[in-house]
This record gives sequence, structure tokens and C-alpha cells, in this order.
Amino acid sequence: KYEGLAMTPPMGWNSWNTFATNIDEKLVKETADIMVSSGLVNAGYNYIVLDDGWMAKERDENGNLVPDPVKFPSGMEHLIEYVHSKGLKFGLYNCAGTKTCAGYPGTRGYEYQDARFYAKLGIDFLKYDWCNTQGITAKEAYNTMSNALKTAGRPIVFSLCEWGDNQPWEWATPMGNLWRISGDIYPCFDCEYKHPENWSSWGFMKIADMRKDIRKYSGPDHWNDFDMMEVGNEMNDTEDKAHFSLWCMLSSPLFTGNDYRKMSKKTLAILTNKELIAVNQDKLGIQGFKLSAEDGLEVWVKPLSDGNWAITFLNRTDAAKKINFDWKNNPIKDADFGFVADFNKTVFKIKDLWKNKEAGTTKKNFTADIASHDVITLRLIP
Ligand code: GLA
Repeated sequence: KYEGLAMTPPMGWNSWNTFATNIDEKLVKETADIMVSSGLVNAGYNYIVLDDGWMAKERDENGNLVPDPVKFPSGMEHLIEYVHSKGLKFGLYNCAGTKTCAGYPGTRGYEYQDARFYAKLGIDFLKYDWCNTQGITAKEAYNTMSNALKTAGRPIVFSLCEWGDNQPWEWATPMGNLWRISGDIYPCFDCEYKHPENWSSWGFMKIADMRKDIRKYSGPDHWNDFDMMEVGNEMNDTEDKAHFSLWCMLSSPLFTGNDYRKMSKKTLAILTNKELIAVNQDKLGIQGFKLSAEDGLEVWVKPLSDGNWAITFLNRTDAAKKINFDWKNNPIKDADFGFVADFNKTVFKIKDLWKNKEAGTTKKNFTADIASHDVITLRLIP
């Protein structure tokens, strides 16, 4: 792969969660404009990625991919120039199989040709899916495309979308900058949504819980990807806040999946919370983990640079709860990376990152009320 293109988790917008294949030039331009004017770019979001549905149903007579001329009447080059002129980066989607998941031309057998096509177009990011891959091996297929992109000569972030069945975290670091670890997200707190075609999508709590032992595989330039976010889609603001907090705690890539043209002030405030984003983008790049869960009150922690920690209390139940957290009896030990916080030895100052204010020190128990599905996220500073 091209090294060093994603030293912190990539941030941006992806079309799939809201628009599926109903994408076009106007949507992309409006999205780019709002990304700049709303402050999303200032907060760190800088990729616009078109997911499945950007192509015509057939390749041309030379075997080249064809951007859909009806959806993109001014041409894909023009659109990419527009996005670049706003200071943003641009990404596209394809699939390792014979067809994409939505039935457009897949890349199997065309890896080097498609990579040259993307380099010539000037894209900066490729999401590479795993539908219609009968008879091929994930490791080989992703390696081939990774080499093809490298050979094509343009730095392009390579985003594997293999859903975790072939454990990409064990082999994809040399090939890609991020890899999906699960099936698709669904805009709910903790549900499983069963599709009629016999596959499932998952509420964000389910995805956060899905693979407990892989955090040691994630880090700068090789991220576990917990899927594009559903913030601003069908959940309430409290759940969106919990969702965003966990994606920051988990060092997940932060791809928004909402319609910026209909975004509420509250949604924008959640997505641009600078303190939470600093937790996600911390230069150590260490994925957080669940420290404890008692009666539905979960405690998630993440080691940060300079001996700081992020800690998130999350109320998974349907009723309000009281937190009374005794630091001294809850030392943090990070078994994968060796970080330790012993509150008997070190006193930390506490900052509440959603309220954006100081909240005492770890000398006293941390007490608070926490609503159903809500979170409190703190930064601990030694
Ligand atoms: C798969 C991926 C999704 C999306 C769709 C597009 O389901 O996991 O993220 O890209 O395909 O068809």
C-alpha cells in the first residue's frame, strides 16, 4: 500500500447510509459546499466518498469503467476537480468480485486497468467491497488490488470492506489503511435488523461489541473500521451522542452517513465536537476497550498521548441511572498495550468533553445522573 496516508483515522462523508445508489453530481457538490460552510472541514472531515451506484451497468468497449452519464452529466473528472477545488479529497467504491453488491461492474480480472482508471481520474480513496467473490481468496484479492493501486502511481487510501469473515486484521496491514470488521451498520441503538435476503445489519452497540480481541491490530495507518456512522439518521440525539462517543473511543474511521442538507444544529454539534474528535485523532492511535459492564452501565476507556485517558460511561438500559465511580477501586490495565492508570498513585484532573467543562479530580468518586442510552465522556489529565 501507499504508506502514511492515514496516520490518524480518516474522516469524511460516505453516500451509502442515506442515499444508497441514489447519488448524483448535485448531491456531491452540495455536500462539498456544506462540508466547508458548516465547519465540518474545520473539524477535520475531508473525504467525500461515493459508494456503490456511481457507475453505468456495463464497461465500455475497451473494458473501462464508465461513470453513470445520467447521474454525473458533467463527467466524473469535472466533479473530482470541483471537490478538490474546495480543499477536499475524493473517493470511489468498487468490489473484488465480478459485480458490486448493488450489481454494477466489479473489478475481478480488471484490477490493474481499474487502478489506472482511478489514478487518471485523480481519486484519493478507494473502498473495496466483497460481494460476488465466489472462488477467490480475500487475502489474494485485496493484495492484488493493493499492488495495482501502488503500481498506478497515485497515493490512494485503500479501504477494505470484507466484513471480518476472513480476519483482515491479521493480514491486511501491508495492503490497506483501514478494514471493516463487521457486517453493515443499521440506524438503531442495539438491534439486529434481518434483511429478507437472509443477512443482518447491526445497531452500533452490537458492532462495538462484536470483536473483542482485535484492538491490538488497529493503529496508525491500519485501522479497524467500525463502519460509516448513522449519526443524524434515525436515532435520537442521545443515541447519536453515544454512537459518536464510541466511534471516537474505538479509533474508528469517522465517516458521516447523513444528509448534510437536512442536518439539525444538534447533529452538527455532535459531529463537530472538537474534544471528542481529539480523542479519536489522538496520535497514539490506540483503540479503546470496555473496562466493565455492571447492570447495563458500561465503562469504556482509551489510552491517549501524554498519559491522558478518555473514559466513557454508557447507560445501555432503558431507565435512568446514577453513576458513583470510585477511581481508587477501579485501576485501568490495558493488557494489549501495557498502559496502566493507578488512581492510588496518580491524581488526574477531569474534563467533561460533552459539557466542555472541568469536573474535579480523581481524588473523589465521580458521581452523575445518566439518562437511558446516554453517555458521559471524560478526559483524564495527570
Ligand atoms: C456492502 C457494504 C456497504 C455498502 C454496500 C454497497 O453491503 O458493506 O458498506 O458499500 O455494500 O452496495
